[in-house]
Amino acid sequence: MANGIRYFVGNWKMFGIPSSYKILDKINGYFIKDKKNNKKYKIIIAPPLTLLQDFSKRFKNKKINISAQNCYHKDNFGAYTGNVSPFMIKKLGINYIIIGHSENRASGENNKIIKEKVALALKNNFTVIFCIGENKQEKKNKKTIKVLKKQVSKVIKNKYNFKNIIIAYEPVWSIGSGKLPSPHELKKNAIELKKFLREKFRLNYNPKLLYGGSVDKNSVHAFKSIKELDGFLIGGASKSSKNFVDIIKNFYK
Ligand code: 13P
Repeated sequence: MANGIRYFVGNWKMFGIPSSYKILDKINGYFIKDKKNNKKYKIIIAPPLTLLQDFSKRFKNKKINISAQNCYHKDNFGAYTGNVSPFMIKKLGINYIIIGHSENRASGENNKIIKEKVALALKNNFTVIFCIGENKQEKKNKKTIKVLKKQVSKVIKNKYNFKNIIIAYEPVWSIGSGKLPSPHELKKNAIELKKFLREKFRLNYNPKLLYGGSVDKNSVHAFKSIKELDGFLIGGASKSSKNFVDIIKNFYK
């Protein structure tokens, strides 16, 4: 069961310019006003790299947490043109980082690279939002759980402190498509995945699990009864303050 704090994480992907901080100002304003529920959830927004430094400063003492969307798989400084290390991102005061997103996997990131990224992110004291998910064919072949277990096992080492890892289950076929798993199916997968994580990593607490894929103010209704979910990773609907806030409103309605 997810009895702790809920997470509403916005992944902006390739979206946002300096003036887009206004979107976060509005979300922050809603959080402050939402006295009834705001102790129950946390908001994290992942803008593109170009905005991390500015947003990190602007929202330092506010209610929005800033996350990076990715990092390079080598740390510190080096001759890696165009890349940014976990160390460099951490120095901006950022505490969260998304790693293993299927869009990055699709453009060539493999388990070996993802494993290095997670290791370096944890070494730099990030909380890692680690994305896993099956594609359409794997779902069709009923391989979902097998795929999820493999993606975890190839990357997460037994010695890691799972308190610094949030698993984001994002079925690839659901991202940006408007297609959703049925609540029954999602609940079943969430239960099985959490059980696997507790056993494999010998946890005496429940690891955190988010769902991502076409979450918006309408679809969130279907998922709020799934107590095993600790929150949502939201793409398209996180780019507008209204759409993002409506998800939170409808979740607690
Ligand atoms: P959408 O919410 O646009 O489907 O994207 C989900 C996602 O990929 C978040 O990381």
